[in-house]
Amino acid sequence: ELGPYSHFMQKEIHEQPKALSDTIDTVLDHGFNASLFGDAAASVLPQLQGVKILACGTSYYAGLTAKYWIESIAGVSCDVEIASEYRYRAAFANPQHLVVTISQSGETLDTMEALKYARELGHRHALSICNVRESAIPRASDLVFYTRAGAEIGVASTKAFTTQLVGLFALAVTLGKVRGRVDAAAEAQYLDELRHLPGSVQHALNLEPQIKLWAEQFSGKQHALFLGRGVHYPIALEGALKLKEISYIHAEAYPAGELKHGPLALVDDSMPVVVIAPNDSLLEKVKSNMQEVRARGGELFVFADLDSHFSESDGVHVIRTPRHVGTLSPVVHAIPVQMLAYHAALQRGTDVDKPRNLAKSVTVE
Ligand code: M6R
Repeated sequence: ELGPYSHFMQKEIHEQPKALSDTIDTVLDHGFNASLFGDAAASVLPQLQGVKILACGTSYYAGLTAKYWIESIAGVSCDVEIASEYRYRAAFANPQHLVVTISQSGETLDTMEALKYARELGHRHALSICNVRESAIPRASDLVFYTRAGAEIGVASTKAFTTQLVGLFALAVTLGKVRGRVDAAAEAQYLDELRHLPGSVQHALNLEPQIKLWAEQFSGKQHALFLGRGVHYPIALEGALKLKEISYIHAEAYPAGELKHGPLALVDDSMPVVVIAPNDSLLEKVKSNMQEVRARGGELFVFADLDSHFSESDGVHVIRTPRHVGTLSPVVHAIPVQMLAYHAALQRGTDVDKPRNLAKSVTVE
């Protein structure tokens, strides 16, 4: 069942080009049209005034990424909340806001309860982005987008995450089209980005030998810091979660601009700092944040795309991800942080597919 792979997580990381192209096929079959989200979507999407995303763990980070897309592409306000927090607070519900739940399993109890609670509070419409057909959460939703990642066995979510991002990107573009913000030329451009995504992800997978060398340096560390800015900040969060979850190395993620408001105090020469630094509009800001780290002796491990123009220097290691792929760049940059966590865990000899204390599907509170 594992074929040439040592663990399900490794297999699932490598299945991403296929999982993505299968999920993208669904988008191509419908185009960026409401029908992508089920029959009810044609009447629901045009009246929306906002989006509220509810999810846990990695699925929550997919939601955080989507917020950037939904607000910038569709011009719709979007807030993202951890399901287990939302369900216990007196939240404000605007019936014109679409509730979007994101769940690989479709059975996560906190996400399910958050959805029920949102309905009680008055939300009328709910979209489920889910990987398991006919599971509890899509059954309780009026709109559905199924990711086509296939079965995910490893506790660490990998291909589920990147395919969720495809569904969420399609939601952002579809909403943008409905609202007249995405014209035919922009739509063609977004379709093109999607078509190229599996190829770029395959390029990122080819970085595995270099990432393995980095992982050897990480495996003896107690702590690590992940930095990103803008739409790559959620990828830093995801990288830190993956590392914690399977290698048991304590890791935290910060938006790089926040460093000097506290976490910079942690940085010394025993703190590896991973930076997601592709060539986007915030790159120059990220570079100056990196200098702050270097000045305190922190060792930098930088994922930079071909256009970021970084060079290696003392204490600065660089791995080049593929040429900047545009809006979908966070999807491509999820791959190297998954592989870094996987190889760090291998080095430490942990149970990669079944990390201690965790379950694949969290059906308890
Ligand atoms: O099945 P779900 O997507 O609802 O699961 C949510 C989280 O439990 C899950 O993403 C968890 O954080 C992963 N183990 C992270 O790798």
